[in-house]
Amino acid sequence: MPAEHALIDTHTHVHASQFDDDRVDVLSCAAEAGVRCIVEIGYDLPSSRAAIALAERYGQIFAVVGVQPNYIAAAPPDWLDQVRALAQHPKVVAIGEIGFDYYWNEAPPDRQEQFFRAQLVLARELRLPAVIHSRDAQSDTIRVLRDAAQGQPGIMHSFSGDWAYAEACLEIGFMLSFSGPVTFPKAQALHNVVRRVPLDRILTETDCPYLSPHPMRGKRNEPARVRLIAERIAALRDMSLLDLTSSVWLNAERIFAF
Ligand code: NI
Repeated sequence: MPAEHALIDTHTHVHASQFDDDRVDVLSCAAEAGVRCIVEIGYDLPSSRAAIALAERYGQIFAVVGVQPNYIAAAPPDWLDQVRALAQHPKVVAIGEIGFDYYWNEAPPDRQEQFFRAQLVLARELRLPAVIHSRDAQSDTIRVLRDAAQGQPGIMHSFSGDWAYAEACLEIGFMLSFSGPVTFPKAQALHNVVRRVPLDRILTETDCPYLSPHPMRGKRNEPARVRLIAERIAALRDMSLLDLTSSVWLNAERIFAF
């Protein structure tokens, strides 16, 4: 385990065009803030390839490949074979982000479910964890995970539900990854979850360039700010930052098998 305050950002989109002008600076800023590991997430085939390219270039970056529900329409007929092929890369540590998005509804629910289930099966076949995206779709997410992912390792990305939803995810065996919203002063239901979730199920992420934490809400987010998220979680649980980051590090090692 690395020295103190080794932070990990388990969900980034550093390849995004928002970072085209200063990507190298953003990554060195993250390193200066103590971020020792970054998990870069694909949401379609091009971004999955971009995640792998970043992981090839930087030792501290790992890649996750998959098709997110908002990008189903653009997926070619052989998309699943292409995801399977990309997942063979030694720096790919999970399949994702996959799930349901009923906020944007870019594809019909049954089609979203078909893509979700196919990639859960693929993750099981490849012995990789699944990174779950779920927006306005709690009951369908739990229904599919109970049916298809029981006993399979997985992460609820950017968890922002209440305790009942958290309990359902924990029962399936998944970890909860917390992002910017835990820093929002009024997010009391989420703060309650952060206090109650077992320490060995907690991960930290930024989802950058989105979901910037308080007090930078609304601005472009970046991996260095995972520190604000870890500090808030530690404060809510009345524990030291070092104890929190050490546990999160072990949790990440366990699920991603770095
Ligand atoms: Ni994401």
